[in-house]
Amino acid sequence: MKKELDLRSEPSLAEAAKRSKTPFKINYDALIIPERLIAYCANKKYLIRTYGCQANVVDSENIKGILAKAGYSETENLEEADLIILNTCAIRENAEDKVFGEIGALKRLKKANNDLIIAIGGCMMQEPTIVKKIEKIYPQVDLVFGTHNIPSLLTLLDEVIFEKKRVIEVYSKEGEVFENLPIVRSSKVKASVNIQYGCDKFCTYCIVPYTRGKQRSRKKEDIIKECEELVALGYQEITLLGQNVNSYGKDLYEDYTFASLLEDVAKTNITRLRFMTSHPWDFTKEMFVVMSKYKNICPFIHLPIQSGSDDVLRRMGRRYTLESYKALVDELRRLIPNVGLSTDIIVGFPNETEEDFQKTLEAVEYCQYDSAFTFIYSPREGTPAARIKDTTPMEVKHERFDRLLKLVNEIGLKKYGECVGKVMEVLVEGTSKKDETLLTGYTDTMKLVNFHGNPNHIGKIVKVKITKGHLFYLSGEEVND
Ligand code: SAH
Ligand code: SF4
Ligand code: F3S
Repeated sequence: MKKELDLRSEPSLAEAAKRSKTPFKINYDALIIPERLIAYCANKKYLIRTYGCQANVVDSENIKGILAKAGYSETENLEEADLIILNTCAIRENAEDKVFGEIGALKRLKKANNDLIIAIGGCMMQEPTIVKKIEKIYPQVDLVFGTHNIPSLLTLLDEVIFEKKRVIEVYSKEGEVFENLPIVRSSKVKASVNIQYGCDKFCTYCIVPYTRGKQRSRKKEDIIKECEELVALGYQEITLLGQNVNSYGKDLYEDYTFASLLEDVAKTNITRLRFMTSHPWDFTKEMFVVMSKYKNICPFIHLPIQSGSDDVLRRMGRRYTLESYKALVDELRRLIPNVGLSTDIIVGFPNETEEDFQKTLEAVEYCQYDSAFTFIYSPREGTPAARIKDTTPMEVKHERFDRLLKLVNEIGLKKYGECVGKVMEVLVEGTSKKDETLLTGYTDTMKLVNFHGNPNHIGKIVKVKITKGHLFYLSGEEVND
């Protein structure tokens, strides 16, 4: 029998693009737990799959916390799950294709178990065409919820379960900032802490300002309290998260910046402190100064360049030039000589010329990144760049992508090779997934190390002698003082 559809709210890109001047509210008590759901959930299990960036990883941790409050427990076995949630990413088309493949595959499980609930959330659900497609041709999906609708997840599930309806609730506009949402963190060693939500940069290729709404910084007191609690729980590493951490606070404070926050969090004495992502646009010298002043702030920066061509950067709306970007890198290396540096690069932005691309290669050569995430441009419906008539053929983009990857890998191999023989400090996160006899963790400069060592040292910082450099990881042996 076809279920009745309760279309509570649908996404709209035009609404999502608006930026209101009214200050946002902070909600410290948003969670509602329907009574009858608690009785139902007593022995129910959920499985969640997370796609995309750290923002989604933390959202999934909150979703897990919310489900636990109702009594759900987690499983990693699809066959055993009473509720399957996909937390999706919309950044590129191939990310979306993966999700549709997954939804298709879930049809089989739904056939075998009619009580199974399939719920889809995340950035893809903020796109009107995607939600329409799910509504029309994927009847196995029971619930669609947006990135701003996570706090009402239990109320929505209650309606799906007890009213036997298909429910769609996606707000286009961000509402409040939610504090105190329950959270089940995936690691006991390192944690991510949101410092701001949304993004107002509107780079012309990017969907995030539409899927995540306007920039909303969390209050410094709320962030610092969360970090202090993590320190008290024994966490060793905190990553401060935002789409543009450098613009933290601009929507809240007159003179409290990201540099101020970084300094205050460093003072909680967390063993290691990281942050991401930094947009080159709002970078301030104070940040470098704070970074060099506090030993617990890791010497590592992810600084997306996107392109080495000023013309492409201008058309992307990135608001820096190659020269100013290089100056930033020079200053960074002057103040923090051992700094680890990584980046993001988009190849094949509409009408990128061979000359533009050469400038990207030259920039990569100049910056000598430890690692770089490279992407072929993917048009995102509703963004300005998607409306540009693009004359660069796809084969040319692929061929450029291959050349870029070759250079990135050459530099990466050299950089990782240079670590051989050194003794580096590694925060041990656990055993390696590929080889249980090895421990795994990262250096402060964000290099992955797989090594032979003492499993009792999981959760601690140990010294590792590097024996071999590979493509984006190191091998080594733990050394005892
Ligand atoms: N806020 C971060 C980036 C978040 S998205 C920043 O500005 O640095 C992560 C990366 O995905 C971006 O840096 C960009 O390189 C890539 N990306 C974003 N939109 C894309 C698109 N439409 N096609 C291809 N890559 C894209
Ligand atoms: Fe996207 Fe640009 Fe915002 Fe990063 S800064 S999330 S690339 S719009
Ligand atoms: Fe993807 Fe949304 Fe993050 S589009 S990259 S999950 S903010």
